[in-house]
Amino acid sequence: MKIIRLEETTSTNDDAKRGAREGAEHGTVWVAESQTGGRGRQGRTWASPRGENLLFSVLLRIQCLPARVPLIALVAGLAVRDAVARVLPDRDVLVKWPNDVLVGEKKIAGILVESAIAGTKVDHVVVGIGINVHTRHFPEELAAIATSIALEGGHASRSALLEDVVQRLDHDVEHVVHRGLGLVHARLSKVDALRGHEIDIEGGGVAEGIDLDGRLLVRKPDGTLVRISSGEVRGRASTPR
Ligand code: BTN
Repeated sequence: MKIIRLEETTSTNDDAKRGAREGAEHGTVWVAESQTGGRGRQGRTWASPRGENLLFSVLLRIQCLPARVPLIALVAGLAVRDAVARVLPDRDVLVKWPNDVLVGEKKIAGILVESAIAGTKVDHVVVGIGINVHTRHFPEELAAIATSIALEGGHASRSALLEDVVQRLDHDVEHVVHRGLGLVHARLSKVDALRGHEIDIEGGGVAEGIDLDGRLLVRKPDGTLVRISSGEVRGRASTPR
């Protein structure tokens, strides 16, 4: 695994995208102590105090149809979830569709997948991952919704965690991209944070799981089942139905 370590950068996703254009090899990782323009999904920022957390991006040179990219995001969520669960063996660590990682109701890691298309196919994918490792004090607006490995009582070295996530991702991603979610679907279902919960996406309903194409299954109040391929689920009811 080739790792490029940076003291400071705008965003490791930018470094990985630039690396892709300049010929960096599949599996290259950019990891930074601090980001001046860290990004989250839906145009949000991802702020993290220097040196406390794990901020990295992996370049995947995977040629596939654009429809497969959501599966890569889910597999990345599962890889992060499993690596975090290893250092928090007494806590329930869950994947919230599409790819947030939660402990209890709080977010411990986020994933931003960006892909480059050439013609009708994906040329490469950048998987950007932020895992809260050592932070103990979050800004007021995040304190109620964010947590870290340290706050949950775990101990983790950032480099060991990085290696663990990348190995897990590497193990599953090619298979899933070419053959579908099948093999990891059971693992993912077991750690699905939304399953059985009332959620507030697209008019509301109860989440019934994730299908083999990576879509969220939602049972509407009128009994119909809808499949949602992209979006954001804000919150979830604390008790499952
Ligand atoms: C989200 O939850 O909205 C996604 C957050 C992704 C943050 C990581 S930190 C490393 C990489 N570089 C970025 O700018 N974003 C991702």
